[in-house]
Amino acid sequence: MSYDVIIIGTGPGGYVCAVKAAQLGLKVAVIEKRATYGGTCLNVGCIPSKALLHASEVFHHAGHGMDALGVEVAAPKLNLGKMLAHKDATVKSNVDGVAFLFKKNKIDAFQGTGKIVAAGKVSVTADDGKVTEIEGKNIVIATGSDVAGIPGVPLEIDEKVIISSTGGIALDKVPGKMIVVGGGVIGLELGSVWSRLGAKVTVVEYLDNILGGMDGEVSKQFQRMLAKQGIEFHLGAKVVGVEKSGSGAKVTFEPVKGGDKVVLDADVVLVATGRKPYTAGLGLEEAGVALDNRGRVEIDGHFKTNVAGIYAIGDVVKGPMLAHKAEDEGVALAEILAGQAGHVNYEVIPSVVYTQPEVASVGKTEEELKAAGIAYKVGKFPFSANGRARAMLATDGFVKILADKETDRVLGGHIVGFGAGEMIHEITVLMEFGGSSEDLGRTCHAHPTMSEAVKEAALATFFKPIHM
Ligand code: NAI
Repeated sequence: MSYDVIIIGTGPGGYVCAVKAAQLGLKVAVIEKRATYGGTCLNVGCIPSKALLHASEVFHHAGHGMDALGVEVAAPKLNLGKMLAHKDATVKSNVDGVAFLFKKNKIDAFQGTGKIVAAGKVSVTADDGKVTEIEGKNIVIATGSDVAGIPGVPLEIDEKVIISSTGGIALDKVPGKMIVVGGGVIGLELGSVWSRLGAKVTVVEYLDNILGGMDGEVSKQFQRMLAKQGIEFHLGAKVVGVEKSGSGAKVTFEPVKGGDKVVLDADVVLVATGRKPYTAGLGLEEAGVALDNRGRVEIDGHFKTNVAGIYAIGDVVKGPMLAHKAEDEGVALAEILAGQAGHVNYEVIPSVVYTQPEVASVGKTEEELKAAGIAYKVGKFPFSANGRARAMLATDGFVKILADKETDRVLGGHIVGFGAGEMIHEITVLMEFGGSSEDLGRTCHAHPTMSEAVKEAALATFFKPIHM
């Protein structure tokens, strides 16, 4: 069996690369060791967590957010089994969708673990031990990432009491107390889910702020909002032990700046301290594929590894571990393999935290601009001054736009508030086209919409907003 491209892994990087390559006329094979396609994102990550985030938000809203709108309902009752079934059905329709796309695009899918035998040759070991060897002009490593754990801290992850994100979307009862180790995206999204369903959630984070890497002002405001929702924070706190204790577990942490250790008890501990590239068993060493000092497959500007005919994309290479970044790399690589000019603009990759309210950002943060010595202007607009937000009682949060002081070109956009994850894209498109805050401020926006706050923030960056 000989192919133009063999792709190992069918997450957002791998499956999108496969579809695009097939659309461009290449003969494509994919290899997947899971029983279903879609990788971490579709099976145990982005998609199931969004189903639970939505359902838990509806539950919370029914219990807390409707009275003020004149909608009086009895206290909502949680049917966790049904909520999890909704999540499972959401996953199934998405993974089935990928299977459909493979069929439609005549992509051959091999179930099993792929191993590079040599450049141009990959073996697939199926669950029953049967080995098939396939050949291809090009091999794409799209194997994604796995839970990183906590360096120096032994972890007994059983996905019941000490859990990763995989267990965090499948708990069969709401824990009384949950400790989240790591105040990053996974910790705050899944912490929010269980907090809304009734758990007392405490986040222990090494850094002095949550969502490290996000704009500082956004992160501070967001932490205040989550605290108001009942989530407790220990910042500047390094977790040095996570151990089972009775039917629950205990977490030991020490202040990063020095001081006494603190021990907290919980029914469930979610470890969300980052992810690491997944390269185990791929035969990379034998094939001579170089990794960088963080265990990522090293690539050049065209996703090429140091071995001719072997490429890599997604979480297994450098850059943010985001599904949409992997997808865009998949498309660009397919175009390159088909003889076209594929390209990803790493300066304009949005990121969204799907809590309530959402946090979204694109481009540079204020801290990054300061550190780079770039002269910039800032414009901000609060949702409390937006008519639509008032009508929906969604006035918490703001839009912040950063533009080059001389040229007015927009360099970054940051939003915390209801619907931030959708609104961020108008700033994203503007940045992709090299637009200025004046361009955005002069673009007519429908009234009344939350998006008018984006326009007003752009007006504030360029000159002055109208409604403040
Ligand atoms: P993360 O890197 O976002 O956050 C991990 C946090 O754990 C960091 O703030 C770090 O300082 C902290 N930490 C590390 N060691 C610690 C220790 N010993 N004690 C206390 N805190 C400690 O990683 P996370 O949340 O696990 O997510 C993994 C990846 O998945 C990220 O790259 C993220 O971007 C991606 N992801 C993206 C989502 C989205 O875009 N909505 C959703 C979920 C995951």
